[in-house]
Amino acid sequence: MKVITIDGPSAAGKGTIGANLSQRLNCFYLDSGMLYRQIAAWVLADGASLTEESDVKNIVAKKLPFLKWVQGYVPSEDLRAPKISDAASKIGVFQEVRRLANQYQRDLVSASSGWVIVDGRDAGTVVFPDAVVKLFITASPNIRAKRRYLQLIERGYTSDLYELEEEIIQRDLRDQKRDIAPLKPAPDAYIIDTSEETIDESVQRVLKYLEKYIDA
Ligand code: C5P
Repeated sequence: MKVITIDGPSAAGKGTIGANLSQRLNCFYLDSGMLYRQIAAWVLADGASLTEESDVKNIVAKKLPFLKWVQGYVPSEDLRAPKISDAASKIGVFQEVRRLANQYQRDLVSASSGWVIVDGRDAGTVVFPDAVVKLFITASPNIRAKRRYLQLIERGYTSDLYELEEEIIQRDLRDQKRDIAPLKPAPDAYIIDTSEETIDESVQRVLKYLEKYIDA
């Protein structure tokens, strides 16, 4: 299997670009944010504290071995709720949680053949450092807040653009400043700023870049 990693902050376009590429390459696409969201939802449902590492780790160790993930899997659209986004970035700071989540991702990917796309925060730096292609997708916080706002409204959530921008900035800071696997581009990543582009333009740009790695 050959891995393409897509890292970057929230709402930069990783998901849309990743899903589009996986359709074109007809390959497995793993949205690791959904995995962290699923873990956060387990912790919230259990009533455990999001800041107690050993409790969170025990929940993950108990539940993760039974989580079945297949192509296109979205555990539940409810996992996209802002409360879960916030909780996911809190439990994502724990080393043991990340170790288990990383192993889960590597097992899934090694069971696949052909190309595999993994979208996350540390996919190219920590989880798959030997990935063939590493992309880092970013955009300004204001643009990302607008995109996430429209997505949330489309999915039926109520939202406030200014609060959302603040929440995105806080979550990015937590992702960038954590000691373990902070959000940052791998030294060999291709960095794409999508602030001034439509999603189609970004996808075209990525496809052009991939030409040297993939036979059309
Ligand atoms: O990508 P998404 O916005 O769905 O991720 C939700 C949160 O999960 C992120 O803000 C981040 O804190 C955490 N996460 C992570 N590592 C990943 C994917 C997501 O820490 N590989």
